[in-house]
Amino acid sequence: MFIVLEGLDGAGTTTQTRLLSAHLRQWGFETWTTREPSAGPFGKAARSVIEGDETLPPAGLALGFAADRIHHMFKPDGIEEMLARGVWVITDRYVLSSLAYQSAQGLDLNWLIEINRAAPTPDVTVFLDTSVRVCLERIQARGENLEDKFHQRTALLNTRRQYLHALSSGLFVGKLVTADGNGSKADVLQQILRGMAEELQTDLGVFGGMLSQPPRGLG
Ligand SMILES: Nc1ncnc2c1ncn2[C@@H]1O[C@H](COP(=O)(O)OP(=O)(O)OP(=O)(O)O)[C@@H](O)[C@H]1O
Ligand SMILES: [Mg+2]
Repeated sequence: MFIVLEGLDGAGTTTQTRLLSAHLRQWGFETWTTREPSAGPFGKAARSVIEGDETLPPAGLALGFAADRIHHMFKPDGIEEMLARGVWVITDRYVLSSLAYQSAQGLDLNWLIEINRAAPTPDVTVFLDTSVRVCLERIQARGENLEDKFHQRTALLNTRRQYLHALSSGLFVGKLVTADGNGSKADVLQQILRGMAEELQTDLGVFGGMLSQPPRGLG
């Protein structure tokens, strides 16, 4: 299974990637968690642009993300190889992040779809639907400077709109599990597991049965 977690900044994708992986491992599945931008050369370049150490217009960054994604997928020991070995891959962000964030920066959605065409569609996309207010509170609580809160709020609202638009196209989504990301970590994990059981039980009965158990592994 190739599982993607998506959501706004502070939505909880990193937290739930870790919890979902821990849960699946307790049930005997081999998992590999990863994130985008990846740790590879293109991912590092993209990260230095995001962090402001390098400047690049939005179209260049979009191409950088797309190049990183293809590298991350097809390199030795990349996502494709892991999946072929039967490992469950859970990635913190994937194509939808590019569609949402880069179209919020004014790039054309169809062009973004085009440059990502070589990226395989995941089996499941988990969208953590966390309110902009809660995202801002969490970003603030983890000590990031929010010097321009109004600007950040507007940007998040815009990105949220683009996410919903991109999700509605169904491209690069696979089976969609939407979880209300505003609750406790345990509550969000429970929703993800329930949503996955519902979406997957026809494909994989054991997974549906497994998920009727209460979640474990909450750190
Ligand atoms: N359900 C939750 N309830 C309370 N706090 C949470 C919850 N989920 C995550 N957090 C906390 O909120 C902060 C942001 O969470 P996390 O890093 O998982 O978000 P993210 O979606 O990965 O953000 P980014 O996209 O910016 O990396 C962290 O400090 C995390 O511990
Ligand atoms: Mg994160």
